[in-house]
Amino acid sequence: MYIENITLKNYRSYKEASFKFSPNLNIIIGKNAQGKTNILEAIFYAIIGKSFRTSKDKEVINWNCQNAFIKAKFKKKYRDVIIEIFFDNNHKKSIKIDGISIKKIGELMENANAVFFSPDELKLVKESPDERRKFINIDISQTNKRYFYLIGRYEKVLANRNKLLKSSKDINVIKETIDIWDRALSDLAEKIYIERKKFITELSPYAKLAHKYITNNSEDIEIKYVSSFDEDYSKKMIKALQKNLEKDFKLGFTSVGVHRDDLDIFLNGVEVKNYGSQGQQRTVALSLKLAELEIIKNRMGEYPILLLDDVFSELDQDRRKKLLKFTSKTQTIITCTDFEDNISANKIYIKKEQL
Ligand SMILES: Nc1ncnc2c1ncn2[C@@H]1O[C@H](COP(=O)(O)OP(=O)(O)O)[C@@H](O)[C@H]1O
Ligand SMILES: [Mg+2]
Repeated sequence: MYIENITLKNYRSYKEASFKFSPNLNIIIGKNAQGKTNILEAIFYAIIGKSFRTSKDKEVINWNCQNAFIKAKFKKKYRDVIIEIFFDNNHKKSIKIDGISIKKIGELMENANAVFFSPDELKLVKESPDERRKFINIDISQTNKRYFYLIGRYEKVLANRNKLLKSSKDINVIKETIDIWDRALSDLAEKIYIERKKFITELSPYAKLAHKYITNNSEDIEIKYVSSFDEDYSKKMIKALQKNLEKDFKLGFTSVGVHRDDLDIFLNGVEVKNYGSQGQQRTVALSLKLAELEIIKNRMGEYPILLLDDVFSELDQDRRKKLLKFTSKTQTIITCTDFEDNISANKIYIKKEQL
């Protein structure tokens, strides 16, 4: 699939602008702070309904305006889809698919797909487990709206359980009703665990291939999903919740469950989060993203769009070439400040006048 065009109104630095893309390679060229990343952000917004930069929808509305608008047209193998997002300072954002308003953001999932990569994605390897769970959640959700709703329900039940933990100074009062939440939470956790495990099992061989290719066969990557329980997740989790009740009561939050799970990533047997160099960590993040392309292809029947934000400045010539070769299967949109490489691409120049 690919994005044919996007129109932005009052979106971040853009008053009004439209961009057309080729189904193959597109390069967005412009100086710093001219709005290159803003375009990729808007494309991704139309796909997953949120920003990779901020959790506040209103932040994308131009500072001098009350509302903003994105309209993107995606071409797919069997149908086209038009996504529109309306932002307003006084209301929640609203979304239309092919002109019809959707009630829940989950409806947006499975319509269009993209993989986003920037030097910032290093955090996926380096930072807290939260980043890795976000990666897993966004990627599974894109191809599986049921999973998106599962995560939403889990978070709601978790919030309710945490509220209950803080609702009384007497643990016995809490004990009276916490069972309901323990059961609901464990049931949802098992379903989430199964989907994540499937995803990692599918991702691993592709990440291995991509990583070997980029590192000229010198590094072997291994990815493990780390969870508190294996089989019988739900049963074991209920027991653990009961066992940890006193601790959770003191903490004021729930200390076990899929919201605490993580990924462990090894290179040639060594954990990359703590022992890998910055360069290795960056390559791992890239390999994970390239593997994602294949999973989305498997699950949706066609490749997603690949969005590469400012990654070329960080790669040497050899890796640049490799990355370009790897991405020849997809529509790719790259941003950069200058681009000397003599390759054929649809070049989009961002100039001040367009703003
Ligand atoms: N809500 C907003 N309203 C107006 N301008 C914004 C808003 N958010 C960001 N900007 C501007 O957008 C520009 C950054 O765009 P960005 O796409 O990150 O640039 P690039 O990727 O080309 O370096 C900055 O000049 C910033 O001030
Ligand atoms: Mg940028």
